[in-house]
Amino acid sequence: MSIPVITIDGPSGSGKGSIAQRVATALGFHLLDSGALYRLTALAASKKGVSMQAEAELATLAAELEVEFVAQAEGEAQVLLAGEEVSLAIREEQCGMNASKIAALPQVRAALLQRQRNFCQAPGLVADGRDMGSVVFPQAVVKVFLTASARERANRRFLQLKARGVEVSLRALIKDIEERDARDINRSVAPLRPADDAVLLDSTAMSIEAVETKVLSLLPEF
Ligand code: DC
Repeated sequence: MSIPVITIDGPSGSGKGSIAQRVATALGFHLLDSGALYRLTALAASKKGVSMQAEAELATLAAELEVEFVAQAEGEAQVLLAGEEVSLAIREEQCGMNASKIAALPQVRAALLQRQRNFCQAPGLVADGRDMGSVVFPQAVVKVFLTASARERANRRFLQLKARGVEVSLRALIKDIEERDARDINRSVAPLRPADDAVLLDSTAMSIEAVETKVLSLLPEF
């Protein structure tokens, strides 16, 4: 029997990370935060002084990333890069911006493809990102494309960062989100776009609990 995969794609700040985590916990499935792999590649590059345009070098870094995701009893997994805790460092805005830049490079995407597919293990997987349903796991049993207005997404990010003690301006976040959306949507490889068979969900006016319930209601019996 094939291993069930649920994909949750969408733009930055749509809440897909939190939803994926909740759905994975509810089902006892594994979780793939694919954005973290792009962020880790960008972080590894800045630590090594590799340019965000050096496609071949970045692809080598992506292929050789020494990463560990350590699940926690609650909240996000702890992320280790070559044994060093980088959970907070990869969430910084600059790292997200660099991740979006390198994610437009075909060789980087190709280098991360198999690594992402390796997360598909029994009893099942919930994967979140931009191209989980369209490219990485086209066989997924349920594909969700989660979105929300740019203002609402910036606001959520603002509250999230504030709770972590990171100071940012809301206006700068809205600008960042719009810039990143434009790059993710307009790139030629695996652009941010719902898979043909994805269910579209606009979470602008929905609570996280309501979105979780809706996603779980889409699942067949496993
Ligand atoms: O979801 P996130 O904000 O952590 O992702 C960071 C960047 O990585 C995002 O701007 C686009 C890129 N990304 C991607 O191109 N494909 C994915 N599957 C996940 C992320």
